[in-house]
Amino acid sequence: MKVLSVASEVYPLIKTGGLADVAGALPAALAAHGVDMQVLLPGYKPVMAKLVNPVRMMEFDDLFGVKAVIMAYRMGGVQYLVLDAPDLFDRDGGPYTDASGTDFPDNWRRFAALCRAAASIAEEGLDGWIPDVVHAHDWQAGLVPAYLQHGPAAATPSVMTVHNIAFQGQFKAAIFAELGLPPSVFSVDGIEYYGDVSYLKGGLQLASVITTVSPTYAQEIRTPEFGMGLEGLVNARAADLYGIVNGIDTTVWDPASDPLIEAKYSEGKLKKRQPNRKALADRFGLTEQDGLLFTVVSRLTWQKGMDVLAEVADDIVTMGGQLAVLGSGDPELEDALLAAAARHPGHIGVIIDYDEALSHLMQAGGDALLVPSRFEPCGLTQLYGLRYGNVPVVARTGGLADTIIDANEAASAARVATGFQFSPVTPDALRETLRRATRAFAEPKVWARLQNQGMDSDVSWERSAARYATMYRDIIASVSSD
Ligand code: ADP
Ligand code: GLC
Repeated sequence: MKVLSVASEVYPLIKTGGLADVAGALPAALAAHGVDMQVLLPGYKPVMAKLVNPVRMMEFDDLFGVKAVIMAYRMGGVQYLVLDAPDLFDRDGGPYTDASGTDFPDNWRRFAALCRAAASIAEEGLDGWIPDVVHAHDWQAGLVPAYLQHGPAAATPSVMTVHNIAFQGQFKAAIFAELGLPPSVFSVDGIEYYGDVSYLKGGLQLASVITTVSPTYAQEIRTPEFGMGLEGLVNARAADLYGIVNGIDTTVWDPASDPLIEAKYSEGKLKKRQPNRKALADRFGLTEQDGLLFTVVSRLTWQKGMDVLAEVADDIVTMGGQLAVLGSGDPELEDALLAAAARHPGHIGVIIDYDEALSHLMQAGGDALLVPSRFEPCGLTQLYGLRYGNVPVVARTGGLADTIIDANEAASAARVATGFQFSPVTPDALRETLRRATRAFAEPKVWARLQNQGMDSDVSWERSAARYATMYRDIIASVSSD
């Protein structure tokens, strides 16, 4: 079975968040289930710089007014298909914004081109490779179902995966005329959304099936609180909605072999974590030896509850704990956290950066990982925390609720607890849970048990990959029986 996956970021070629980890891990995870997946992504400047001897596969003389080539590049057993279109992607800044953080004004065209290229692969094939299914991730791939349905590959089924329904790719109606789609697609049954064009809405409307990245988030996006205006549509399609929790790439994230940490270790060998804790404390200028060391690796945004974290930062120190934060994002939240660090030198350290290597050391050296998200479709850092013995303290929402077992009495007695959950996302509820964690930390045996139980839990792709494979087979079967 051949599947073309389409994503705007794919680790290790380009990453700003969890989507890259997932799109990067799926091909290998699915190969074990008989799925031959290739991944299409944009040829941003840093991506093109990483390609060694790529092969030209398909040329476009005029893809939304620019020249483009699909380049194939094989690495680590994965076939990457890179859309090389310098006029669209050869720029400074990130995948979506310029160096000052402003969205590129032609993002609608850049990602329409990605979707159009995906449809062309389904229509013409690449060297005889023709996908049986096209799997689109997030709004940047949201036009894939529309292009498929209105071209020669109309019979090819599509999957639309929502990694975060807050980002919808909404643009002024005026761009519609340039998308090369029939006028009928600009309707309530297509990609029209309150008079605008919405890429994600179109994808949700037109894909054969919809998935999201945890069962709880699949339920949450059916409600006004989490659906961000799309709850009606998601509900209308509830029969085609799947919640499949993310796994992690256990070859990249393995404390027994991780080259990015100070000392390697494994379950049951927790003393060997110590050099990591020391290295982490040194990096963040933390001088307290014994207090519970909380870590945060996150985009610094409202979604992630970073304002709530800033409010309780002083309390962490009062409770005898310490805090190390690695992240970047909203300038106001960056400032609030930096101010907390300035108030408590030696106890709170904040590094405003995006640093892949340091993110590994934080998981290996922290005692606990804080994830106070207001909503969290899946969340990956808590899964890394589990695998590294960095006990997750999480908000009870989305994938966080699905992946962490709270250390309540029953779960503790049954020896299945892996962390702490709190709700609602308020300073009071978070403070109360930090106290619970602090009490558990004071009993080394209790804490070690939590760490070992977390390290023992299955965070691999195994089960979820099997579910994706079954879903692909089912939609292929239902299309061919139509
Ligand atoms: P989201 O995709 O919503 O940001 P996830 O938890 O799914 O949240 O994924 C975040 C990914 O980005 C993880 O791999 C995490 O380690 C990484 N990450 C987040 N912030 C940073 C940072 N400042 N430096 C390095 N890695 C980071
Ligand atoms: C999004 C979500 C995050 C999820 C990731 C990968 O970025 O915010 O919760 O883990 O996608 O699916």
